[in-house]
This record gives sequence, structure tokens and C-alpha cells, in this order.
Amino acid sequence: MKFVALPMFLAVSSLACVPAVAADVAAGKAKAEEYCVDCHGDDGKGDDESPDITAGKLSTKEFVVAMQEYQSGKRTKDAKMAKAAKKLSADDVANVAAYYATLK
Ligand code: HEC
Repeated sequence: MKFVALPMFLAVSSLACVPAVAADVAAGKAKAEEYCVDCHGDDGKGDDESPDITAGKLSTKEFVVAMQEYQSGKRTKDAKMAKAAKKLSADDVANVAAYYATLK
């Protein structure tokens, strides 16, 4: 048991360290299902109108910066996207980013 427990602990603690803020993937998924999947799809890969926002396309940092730019009004290309972004708190953004980071 001793030999199993240590790698398990290391795996769990290193996972928790990936985002700078401890993010909640399950909470992020719930918000994504509420506000994002209509345009970006269940798999986050988007369609002809909405871009792919999975980890294969954007890093977590790029994702968060993009969301902050929609929220602050720096990115205005798509009004509906900006409106969706403004429904999220900073914690929501971190959680949603963590969720999309699990999709490739
Ligand atoms: C009404 C449709 C719509 C909804 C709802 C929507 N998006 Fe978007 N999203 C878009 C479109 C269209 C773009 C591209 C616009 C642009 O180029 O600025 C985009 C761009 C993005 C980008 C930037 C991608 C990049 O490559 O720079 C991110 C990140 C993103 N969306 C995340 C989200 C999240 C998270 C949600 C849910 C809170 C969401 N979107 C909801 C349509 C939508």
C-alpha cells in the first residue's frame, strides 16, 4: 500500500498545481453547459461561426486572457460572445478555462 499511496499523492497534488488558482472543473463544466455549448459545441470544437476553444487550440492562459478581453470590452468582434463572457465571474472564468483545458 505504501508504494501505491505515494505516486497517487504525487499525481493528485501535481494536478492541483496546474492552474495558478485552484479551479473547479465540474463547476466549469456546469457553466459551460449553461452558457457556452450552444455556440462552441459539446466538445468545444465550435462550428463554422464559433472557434475551437479546446486545449488543442488555446492554452489555459490564452483562454483566460480572451475571456477578460471580452469582459473588459477590448474584444468586440462578436457581441453575443462578449455578452456570454460578461455572465461569468472571475472564478467562473478560471473554472470554465480548467474545464476546456480537459478537452482536446
Ligand atoms: C452566441 C454564440 C457564443 C456563445 C454563447 C459563446 N461564444 Fe465564445 N465565441 C463565439 C464566437 C463567434 C467567437 C469568435 C469571436 C471573435 O473572434 O472575437 C468566440 C470566441 C471565443 C473565445 C476566443 C477564442 C480565440 O481563439 O481567441 C473563447 C475563449 C470563447 N469564445 C469562450 C467562450 C465561453 C467560455 C463561453 C461561455 C461562457 C462562450 N465562448 C460562449 C461565440 C460564442
